[in-house]
Amino acid sequence: MKVRLIAAAAVLAGLAATHAPQERDVRSHEGLVVCASGPACDAGASALAAGGNAVDAAVATAFALAVTYPAAGNIGGGGFMIVRTPSGEVTAFDYREKAPLAATPTMYLDAEGAIDDRLTASGHLAAGVPGTVRGLEAAHRAFGKRPWRELVMPAIRLAEEGFTVSAALARSLNSALLTMAPFPASVAAYGKAGGAEWAAGDRLVLTDLARTLRAIADDGPDAFYRGWIADRVAEDMRENGGLITREDLAAYEAKVRTPVRGTYRGFDIVSMPPPSSGGVALIQMLNMLEPLDLQAKGLLTPAALHLQAEAMRRAFLDRARHLGDPDFATSIPVDRLLSKAYAAEAGASIRADAPSDSAVLGRDLLQAGNAREPDATTHYSIVDRDGMAVATTTTLEGSFGSHVVVKGAGFLLNNEMGDFNRRPGYTDTTGPIGTAANVIAPGKRMLSSMTPTIVARDGRVVLVTGSPGGRTIINTVLTIVLGVTEYGLTGREAVALPRMHHQWMPDRLAIEERMPAAAVSALRGMGHEIRTVARQGDAHSVWIDADGTPHGVRDERSEDSRAATPRELTSPSQRR
Ligand code: GLY
Repeated sequence: MKVRLIAAAAVLAGLAATHAPQERDVRSHEGLVVCASGPACDAGASALAAGGNAVDAAVATAFALAVTYPAAGNIGGGGFMIVRTPSGEVTAFDYREKAPLAATPTMYLDAEGAIDDRLTASGHLAAGVPGTVRGLEAAHRAFGKRPWRELVMPAIRLAEEGFTVSAALARSLNSALLTMAPFPASVAAYGKAGGAEWAAGDRLVLTDLARTLRAIADDGPDAFYRGWIADRVAEDMRENGGLITREDLAAYEAKVRTPVRGTYRGFDIVSMPPPSSGGVALIQMLNMLEPLDLQAKGLLTPAALHLQAEAMRRAFLDRARHLGDPDFATSIPVDRLLSKAYAAEAGASIRADAPSDSAVLGRDLLQAGNAREPDATTHYSIVDRDGMAVATTTTLEGSFGSHVVVKGAGFLLNNEMGDFNRRPGYTDTTGPIGTAANVIAPGKRMLSSMTPTIVARDGRVVLVTGSPGGRTIINTVLTIVLGVTEYGLTGREAVALPRMHHQWMPDRLAIEERMPAAAVSALRGMGHEIRTVARQGDAHSVWIDADGTPHGVRDERSEDSRAATPRELTSPSQRR
């Protein structure tokens, strides 16, 4: 391990100065909330300060993110939460959106039978039935200690009293407002008075959202699914060509699922089962890589990166082939995909010196010949003073989801319907997948890539992680898990590692700019088609060192992220 650490330190020091780990970790035995938005992390930390546990903090953080991080924080979208109790019991909460009851398999095709991307990019028709509020209710009912109302209060205060707009939020609002132009309620909610551009230091007040949150706090989640909020959603949908009805909302239920589990070099991996593809693909990749001794090949060497890319190619082919909502596609072979025996079989075709051909590996699926990967999901990680850990990833799908704010209710709706296979039976080399498991059906959950993950060793949590980034999520999590488990890196070093992504089709490797140039050109020399990207993912994590000290590891790729502890809360109201 010592040699390993020295080698890793040398490689990390060699990364461009701006990409090497910069800051000191926030450490705390009292609990930590690490997320994309400072005020939302504080909301979670205030729940911990009040004696709440990690699930209480997760509920408070989620509601506050819906106010302060509108690109992805939400009550009009969905998500997944993995909870690990101090005694090691794990539970997965699934509050993924569902297709409305009036949805049909071909509703996003044009007259020629081609996918019309505009229909899922924005607008009322793009929205699935939101699951977040029911999901938070389910997790709170199972594990929460603090009153529900108290946990929603910080979000209400932020929406009612307003909060300071950061430079990053100003940029994100100004860009979203261009797409919001056709939706008057959205412009009314998020436009600056007088139509000016937002700037850092401005104050954003969200009055309608505050009223909706107050109803959820006072009357419970039924206000959202059966009360006046449901009326507003149904009305807005009726008037604007959307499909969601009161019946859809009343029928929505969050599911408690059994997480998927794997092992890697003595570490235990727990992650999200279907309808996410994340946990299955992550464990499949780890199983393929375990016998290949990446460490001996070296951190960030072309040989090791190539093997990772080949594992990605194969796991994403199986994702395309098999995965979808388990409540509909009952033949999903999860146990087989998770087995080490299957990984040996699938990995047998990996060559050490050259990439495989995705078209040959998946020829049975292809009818012909990069799906855009929205980045607007967000992940937060929490541990509390007793060792309960929560990994939550939540999403509106695209940045600001459908861009539709529900008139009179003030919250953004998702555009998650785009995560279904929109052209049944049609898969080609450019990215669309048409396999049956993820074709649209009324009441079905669309396949996700969200990968909230908890890694433990000898019964103790070592890492809580996850990321946004569409299909890239799974590969971001893979890099971080390998950093900690294979290369012996700290959480901060693992989160700082350059990331890459292969998703079977299109057959190319996307690599972050921070990857050492020599590794990129060697991979190109091996035959990989490579596209460089500015950044991949945003993985706010908690890492627990060998002494048992939790470290909050915010991902420096996002400006506004923070690791918050109960002790560091500054204002008395945050401590409540
Ligand atoms: N919306 C991103 C995902 O669910 O994978």
